[in-house]
Amino acid sequence: MQGDGLDTAQLGPNKTIQNQRKRATNSPGFRPDQNFIDDNRIELDITNIVNAADGESFIGEDELSAIGLRAVEMKKLIETKKGNCLDNGIPMLGWYTLPDEITDEHVAEIIAAARQFRNDVDAFVSLGIGGSYLGIEATFKALTHTHFNQLSRADRGDVPEIYFMGQNLDPDFYRDSLDLLQGKRVGINVISKSGTTTETAIAFRILRQLVEKWAGQKAADYIIATTDKTRGALRSLAEKKRYRTFVIPDNIGGRYSVLSDVGLFGLAVAGVDIAEFLAGFRTMKQRTTTDDFWKNPALVHAAVRYLSFIKGKSIEVIASNSTHLIHLARWMEQLFPESEGQRGNGLWVSPSLYSEKLHANGQMVQDGPRIFIETFLRLRRHDNEMPIPPDPENLDGLNFLSDNRRSLNFVNDLVIDGPAYAHLEGGVPNMTIDFPARNAYNIGQLYFMMELSAAVSGYMAGINPFIQPGVEAYKKAMFALAGKPGFEEYRRTMEKSAARLRKLKI
Ligand code: PA5
Repeated sequence: MQGDGLDTAQLGPNKTIQNQRKRATNSPGFRPDQNFIDDNRIELDITNIVNAADGESFIGEDELSAIGLRAVEMKKLIETKKGNCLDNGIPMLGWYTLPDEITDEHVAEIIAAARQFRNDVDAFVSLGIGGSYLGIEATFKALTHTHFNQLSRADRGDVPEIYFMGQNLDPDFYRDSLDLLQGKRVGINVISKSGTTTETAIAFRILRQLVEKWAGQKAADYIIATTDKTRGALRSLAEKKRYRTFVIPDNIGGRYSVLSDVGLFGLAVAGVDIAEFLAGFRTMKQRTTTDDFWKNPALVHAAVRYLSFIKGKSIEVIASNSTHLIHLARWMEQLFPESEGQRGNGLWVSPSLYSEKLHANGQMVQDGPRIFIETFLRLRRHDNEMPIPPDPENLDGLNFLSDNRRSLNFVNDLVIDGPAYAHLEGGVPNMTIDFPARNAYNIGQLYFMMELSAAVSGYMAGINPFIQPGVEAYKKAMFALAGKPGFEEYRRTMEKSAARLRKLKI
């Protein structure tokens, strides 16, 4: 029996690869049946918030019910397009109605465009940063094989290799990426609502040249621009060069835009079932229209996070037992702090892959300052079952697992249960979002629930969760330092201020 656990022939086909191959033939009109809906219900478990290891719970049910009334009021403001939601005079609530507005025809059009596009390229690069990037990468990584680009094209579901760029300015990252892309037929989708984001624009310059080099006169066929309908540098460039374009709606901000064409086109190129993704948004939209606070997971989630902040917590660890779902935590790391972090408000979000992080900041969560809440993103059903092989010598003492036919899946589940118990004992209230399986429907549900939660908690804190004025400060400083025309005065101010600093280097 020794070594059986490592024999992939005996393990059977990898289900993730099977799913990828199946997704290549997905259809635009997906509607979940009741069995599918029941099997894929995202649940929020707040047992370890409203109970304590001993003594008083961190948040009582009565307290939550009371704040719940306000959460319901905030939701009504969203439904009626009121509240603190303007950006440049536009109410940024398009994401709330989007799930009901997207038609099967639109989904079909995106799938057809993506199929045609991906057939002619070996590698697809999605360029963007923040809301023009994270949701696409998070969804892609949550659903696909750990080593996607190393698989054969057939095992990838007949889709190209997938890359993400434009989200940093690291020269080595670009140099290394070019090594991989050189000689391949590369297609790109550049995504920027403003059309002026430096990181994305520089990446686009580099990648555009690569496409022009291999495709020559036909380069425009392999460049997609996703941007504002009429405004911005990228819109002008796209029109001049005759690139195909997708539109980012005026009334949807970056971090709320993954269900718009921002996410849909790239995900469809990667073979993700976007109709199923949309169905997940719709299901959660329906579930969260209720004014019954205790039946509305988005409102309960918002109320718990809001009260946690009011009661002195400042860090939310979002931990997952899945190397794939942890990318959804990275999406949440953007959605919440960029929406809530204004005028002294907001929880700092720390995405943490468990059990890896338990051997690092796990010590501090257990026993450091009591400033944490913890949210678990628990993957219930992994794609594959991984047995733990028996060992006749049993020097590590782990045969109790293999003898009892305990798989790695069993142990990995405890990576949530163990910390949930221990951390509550240590004074860290925690909640769990149960994620039934790795599919696009569940990701859609999670995204809508979190978008509504961020909007409601932002409203409760009295801020506008659809703007990010603080992000402009670093951009201004970088432009001034880089010598961008128009920033001369600011550069002088920076120089004067720098001259006043007492230098201290050790
Ligand atoms: O959520 C947001 O609004 C931001 O994270 C933006 O998406 C990000 O700054 C990228 O902006 P743009 O799409 O204009 O390039």
